[in-house]
Amino acid sequence: MPDPRILLGPGPSMADPRVLRAMSTPLLGQFDPEFTAIMNDVMELTRFAFETGNERAFPVSGTGRAALEAAITSIVEPGDRVIVGECGRFGLLLIEIAERCGAAVSAVRGAWGSVLDPDPIAAELRRAPTKLVAIVHGETSTGVLQPLEAIARVTHEHGALLMADCVVTLGGCEVAVDRWGVDVAVAGAQKCLSCPSGLSPLTYNARAEDAMRRRKTRIVSNYLDLGQLADYWSPARFNHHTAPTAMVYGLREALRAFHDEGRAARFTRHRLHGDALRAGLDALGLTIFGKEPAERRLAFLTPVVVPEGVDELRVRRRLIEDFGIEIGAAFGQLQGRIWRIGTMGYSASRRNVLLCLAALEHVLRGEGFRTHPSAGVDAARAHYRAAGV
Ligand SMILES: Cc1ncc(COP(=O)(O)O)c(C=O)c1O
Repeated sequence: MPDPRILLGPGPSMADPRVLRAMSTPLLGQFDPEFTAIMNDVMELTRFAFETGNERAFPVSGTGRAALEAAITSIVEPGDRVIVGECGRFGLLLIEIAERCGAAVSAVRGAWGSVLDPDPIAAELRRAPTKLVAIVHGETSTGVLQPLEAIARVTHEHGALLMADCVVTLGGCEVAVDRWGVDVAVAGAQKCLSCPSGLSPLTYNARAEDAMRRRKTRIVSNYLDLGQLADYWSPARFNHHTAPTAMVYGLREALRAFHDEGRAARFTRHRLHGDALRAGLDALGLTIFGKEPAERRLAFLTPVVVPEGVDELRVRRRLIEDFGIEIGAAFGQLQGRIWRIGTMGYSASRRNVLLCLAALEHVLRGEGFRTHPSAGVDAARAHYRAAGV
């Protein structure tokens, strides 16, 4: 058995124990009426999570990038123009996937740590007919939250579809697919939903489905063909791959936990623990990376600047070895410069925030970083007290 860990990285978060219990229940065949009833629950709960009335709302077997790839490969044909908003590592991933599908990709780039403005995207849309605009809702590499409504508006004015990567945001903050006008939204299980990775919920509307139907060329992937997957996740129960049934039990339970907690309470919990963590980090004398205001930052993923003279990797190693706490490193241009601390899903708790601050203070002192004893924990406790928790 692996040692238990407190997972406070950018994902996976700690799995909710009720999800793990559900995953260890007896296996059913995938066309067993008991199992198809569970599939129906998953689809209904997926609509709840994405705040959508879309008929198409189901999980793709695979991690978030499989679902992103399914969406892009099913919509985009070779030669189609795709605009990708990029201000972080996951924007780069969207560019790569679209290019591999043969798209003519136009990247609209922003500085890492900031969000994208709709204006340059609108300008790019005016330049040539475009099939798809793809953008990351929560950029896990930098901790920013991209507003989608205005981008959806300009995208539709030019007859294109908007796809949003909501891998890190679903279950942690509002993802209002219908209200914002998002045509395709893709999520992940192992972040704010606190389910192990392996199934990735997605939803798309009739416009996106119509674009798939009007393709002139066949979708190159069989496994990630959303047309075939939608037929399986429908009353037709068209046979496709062998469903990962235990994962489906787990995802249903994770979505139920979200539904039971309620959207408002869940988003408030994520905000509360993220704010308490940031109050503690600030009191320790650490700097949060990025200049966007709070409403454009992920409440549940905090990027922290590694202080001068501190060994980034040694800090993470000591947190794991001495305290069993995992925090995240960074990618690309931010590698070695920031840590990313996640307070997602089941990991978002008062106890985890206080343990993290106490352990981080101890380890940073070992690195020669000067800070007041207990400053982080005291500030977080004061934040909780002020919030009545
Ligand atoms: C915003 C975002 N998009 C896509 C991915 C890729 O998801 P996965 O690792 O589940 O394939 C991640 C994973 O960290 C992510 O945070």
